[in-house]
Amino acid sequence: MKTLPVIIDCDPGIDDAIALLSAFVAPKLKILGICTVCGNQPLTNTLRNALQITELGYRVDIPVFAGCHQPMLRAPIHGQFHGENGLGNTAFPAPKKQPESQHAVNFLTDSCEQAIADNQPLTLCVLGPLTNLATALRIKPHIAAGISRVVLMGGAYREAGNRTMTSEFNMLADPHAAHIVFSSPLHITVLPLDATHQVILTPEHVAKFVKVSGRISAQLGELMAFWDRNDVRRYGSRGGPLHDPLVIAYVLAPELFGTEKARVFIEHNSELCMGQTVADWYGKSGETPNVDIVTRVDANKVFALFYELLSRYAGK
Ligand code: BDR
Ligand code: CA
Repeated sequence: MKTLPVIIDCDPGIDDAIALLSAFVAPKLKILGICTVCGNQPLTNTLRNALQITELGYRVDIPVFAGCHQPMLRAPIHGQFHGENGLGNTAFPAPKKQPESQHAVNFLTDSCEQAIADNQPLTLCVLGPLTNLATALRIKPHIAAGISRVVLMGGAYREAGNRTMTSEFNMLADPHAAHIVFSSPLHITVLPLDATHQVILTPEHVAKFVKVSGRISAQLGELMAFWDRNDVRRYGSRGGPLHDPLVIAYVLAPELFGTEKARVFIEHNSELCMGQTVADWYGKSGETPNVDIVTRVDANKVFALFYELLSRYAGK
């Protein structure tokens, strides 16, 4: 099978961890490296968590890099629903695996330059604030040619925000980085709250994941159980949205998603609307549409995909 070269940039994070565990067992993906960033937790914790998840998922062969400690201009904010350690307070042993000595941003720029030289552009999956990618683009703008597509979780279009009235966490955490990325020539697909709120992980789903996921089932069950927001008013049921895993699902099976194309602007001046993702649905700006925004998801088929992937741990 021809594999797809990908880099995963993340801030684990419970849903980042579920995304990583799913990606680790997808035969279609060749994961070149995992970059970490300040986001749901400070960088030291997101880095440690990424190392722990590679150990849990039997993928210590994948290099893990530490990225940016801080957003570009604003003070860090951290996630609210990930527990004290960022992994739902699930206890993992201190990782034996060491991070690479190279900085994540240098790994990104080197990998993109290599992809250009080999004429084999890579896919970049971003599950957290866009600080690493924006910094890479500031240092070496030509690397955009080495990225076939950025698939990222972030933003809220027709939906309201989840961290403020207008803004989703990943965009609010580093709106200046988001502004740089969305103004670049990159091909971008976004999984915003409009999409992720269509895929709610209920206690019934969790029970099934625990049943199928073999040697990781205890830890996966704990991570998933912690993710239950119990916010029926917002989500229409018990459970929590499968935000970051949808990036992996999109890369593996884009036919399960429907997109609409629009120019996207990121608010980075107004405190009231800081981090808001503004889509020019009706061509008011005169700018060319530059982002594929996922607005529809076949949730049942996405769950079937994740059951199939995570059941691969039963054989490990
Ligand atoms: C995003 O924010 C984080 O807390 C999650 O990991 C996800 O990437 C959802 O708004
Ligand atoms: Ca995340």
